[in-house]
Amino acid sequence: MPAQIQNTVLNNTRSTVININGQFVPVSEANVSVFDRSFLYGDSLYEVVRTYQGKPFRLKEHLKRLEKSAALCQMEFSQPIAEYEREILRSIEHFRAQPGKAHEDVYCRIVISRGAGKIGFGLKNVETPYLYVIYVEPISMFPNKPFDQGGKLQISARTRNLPNALDPAMKSGNYLNSLLAYLTAADAGYDDALMLDYQGFMTEGTTYNIFYVNRGIVATSPLDVGILDGVTRRAIIDLCVELGIPCREVRYPKNYLYEADEVFVSSSLKEVLPVFDLDGKKISGGKAGPITKILKNAFDELVKKELRLS
Ligand SMILES: Cc1ncc(COP(=O)(O)O)c(C=O)c1O
Repeated sequence: MPAQIQNTVLNNTRSTVININGQFVPVSEANVSVFDRSFLYGDSLYEVVRTYQGKPFRLKEHLKRLEKSAALCQMEFSQPIAEYEREILRSIEHFRAQPGKAHEDVYCRIVISRGAGKIGFGLKNVETPYLYVIYVEPISMFPNKPFDQGGKLQISARTRNLPNALDPAMKSGNYLNSLLAYLTAADAGYDDALMLDYQGFMTEGTTYNIFYVNRGIVATSPLDVGILDGVTRRAIIDLCVELGIPCREVRYPKNYLYEADEVFVSSSLKEVLPVFDLDGKKISGGKAGPITKILKNAFDELVKKELRLS
C-alpha cells in the first residue's frame, strides 16, 4: 500500500500535527524519502517530551540530551538547536489551535535524520541537509497503566546494547534491541520488558529507567552500566536528595528486584509508575509502596511548580 494511502487512513482519525523542516504538512502528505538514512540505517536521533496544560516539561534538558546524542554519533546538525526548540513549541501551539484541542496534552517527538542521498554508509553520499520531523499527537494516544494498577514486566533474555556497540546513552533511531525485547514480553502477556547487560547487571527498560527501594534506600543503575540518562530519572534522584531519602546509583543483578520492597519505573510518559509483577513474581504485595507514592506525589508537585500550572 503506498505510504500516502496509509497516511490518509491515519489522518481520518487523528489530530496529529506534522512539521517537516519547519513546514506543517498534512498527515496524508507527510512522507520521507526511501533514500533517507533514518530509513536505510536508523541513522537518526530522537527525543520525546510531553506537555502539561500545554507546556512541555524540561524541554531544554531533552534538547541538551539531543546534542549529547549527536556528539556520540558525529552528527553536526544543519539547524541550530534553538530552531528545534522554537519549532517544537510552534508545533505544540499549532496542535492546540485546533478546535477543542487547547486543553489537550500532547506527546511530542522530534526525529532528526542525517539526511538522504546515495546508498552507502560514507558521508559523501549524503545529498541533503539534515531532515527533521516533529510529531504532535494527543497524549491519550499513548495509554499508560494507571498508577494504582502498576506495571507487569518481564526481564528480557535479550541483553541491552553494550556502550561500546550502540551506546544506550545515545537516543538514536535504532531501537530494534529494545523493540524486540518488548515484543517478546508482550507475547508472553507482560506490559513491557527490562534488560540486563552482558554481565547480568540491570540496565533499564525498553523506554524507561528502573528504580528499586529496599529498607528505605532508593537505588537505580548507574549511567556507566549503559543506559539512557533519563530526564525523569534525574528529577527523581534530585527529589530524593531534597526529601532526604537516601538514593544510590549502583550495579545490581536481577534478584535484587525480585527481593525489593518496592520497584518503579520512570520516563517522560510513564512519570513514576510502580511495578507490581516481575517475571510472574509479585512485587511489593501488588500495590504501590510508600516511597514510590512519596516520589510520585513529589514529581507531580515538581511539574506543577516548575511549569506554574493552575
Ligand atoms: C531507553 C530509554 N531509557 C529511559 C528513558 C526515559 O527517559 P526520559 O525520562 O528522559 O523520558 C527512555 C525514554 O525515552 C528510553 O528510551
